[in-house]
Amino acid sequence: MSLDLATLRRRLQKALGKEFTVGDLLGEGGFAAVFRVRDNSQHRDVAVKVLDLGLTPSPGLAERFVREARTSGQLEHPHIVPIYKVGGYKNEVLYIVMRCVDGRSVRQLLEREQRLSVVDAARIARQVADALGYAHGRGIVHRDVKPDNVLLDGSGHVLVTDFGIAKAAQEASASQLTTEGMVVGTPHYMSPEQATGERVDGRSDIYALGVVLYQMLAGTPPFEGESAQSVLMKQATVEPVPIRQLRGDVPAALAAVIERMLAKDPAERYQTAEELSRALVDALPGAARDGLHTGRSIAAGLVRVLVGLGALAGLGLVAFALFSGGPRLSVSAPVPDSVTQVLRRQRGLPPGDVALYVFAPRGAEDTTLLLVARRVVSVVTPHGARVYARDSVRVRYRLNLRGGLALRMILSVRRAREDTAFSRLSIRDVYEMTPRLRQLRLSP
Ligand SMILES: Nc1ncnc2c1ncn2[C@@H]1O[C@H](COP(=O)(O)OP(=O)(O)OP(=O)(O)O)[C@@H](O)[C@H]1O
Ligand SMILES: [Mg+2]
Repeated sequence: MSLDLATLRRRLQKALGKEFTVGDLLGEGGFAAVFRVRDNSQHRDVAVKVLDLGLTPSPGLAERFVREARTSGQLEHPHIVPIYKVGGYKNEVLYIVMRCVDGRSVRQLLEREQRLSVVDAARIARQVADALGYAHGRGIVHRDVKPDNVLLDGSGHVLVTDFGIAKAAQEASASQLTTEGMVVGTPHYMSPEQATGERVDGRSDIYALGVVLYQMLAGTPPFEGESAQSVLMKQATVEPVPIRQLRGDVPAALAAVIERMLAKDPAERYQTAEELSRALVDALPGAARDGLHTGRSIAAGLVRVLVGLGALAGLGLVAFALFSGGPRLSVSAPVPDSVTQVLRRQRGLPPGDVALYVFAPRGAEDTTLLLVARRVVSVVTPHGARVYARDSVRVRYRLNLRGGLALRMILSVRRAREDTAFSRLSIRDVYEMTPRLRQLRLSP
């Protein structure tokens, strides 16, 4: 994003007026930020998505964004995040006020669990299919179905967000983010017709949901690649590895549903999301229920909230860790705004990326910080940052017996030299970090 969050927050507060009090950052996407905001008149928290129009707003695109957001604002469905208000302010910011979903996204769930149980995955997919069926019936195609846009409340009830607006917003702010012809957003969930720039309809959402369902079961989406172009190529031309080869406990009937969702030709997919919803329940009757099977996710959510709260002293802690090597910092997403700002300033967190985990050891002389973001892993020091593509990095430890027992943490980076992130970690540091790095698939 071209503006820093503090400016965006200030502009949002000005735009919303006294009735609202802008609070913590809930998350950041490629082109917008989402804040928790107190609605003082209704005595409730809402989530506000702010699109930064930057220095070169395009009035036409901004208008289209508002129009599309207003259209999706008319959707009323138990599995769609309700929009309360859409507005703009002096061509500086556009914002959408919506229900605040106190839970997490399927992306966050997958970061923690990697793979879901078969019944949970089918339940989530069925609830999304119901939301899609309702919206398609009103002429609205989502166009950006992906794990980030599927939110779960505290009881695991699914709420789909960003109907039709994610792409409009991307286009409205595209001038600042990309040069023409570059692919905006993640290509992993794009249907073949979307990948090749053809007209899309509801069946494109069914394909994207097929990718999400596949990923919830296999732990990875069907197609990955070095570049956006290579993923898009595969969407259009390569057949996915059958899900049962990766996950033997998927019933054959469910595997057949997934295969049909992922058909290259839209005419071979389910033609409506209602049809898909029924097929999911036929394949696995447990999919008919809402909520999640595992209680663990909710408990884990609580732990995350506590960890988040513990990190509220963010800026001070990071400054201390960076410059004086003080107390250990160990924060999982949502990483506080103040911490994120420091990481961006040190160039460890590229624009548009989102911090998932930040760690600084307790060791007195260590002023280094490890950042794992959605796309990169960075070693951040007071002098700058060494930034690597996340999927090229693996973490290893070696004993370091010089000056007492300690561990050296090494990043092995594909096609690059090893990087010693920390040279003297205590066992306690490693104990703290290991499960989180494992969840993020950086260590064995
Ligand atoms: N209504 C909401 N309630 C609570 N948290 C939300 C809500 N909407 C979004 N969020 C959080 O904010 C994050 C950022 O959302 P945003 O839509 O800006 O980006 P994204 O969906 O992650 O990616 P993209 O920029 O490609 O759309 C989400 O991942 C989610 O964690
Ligand atoms: Mg979103």
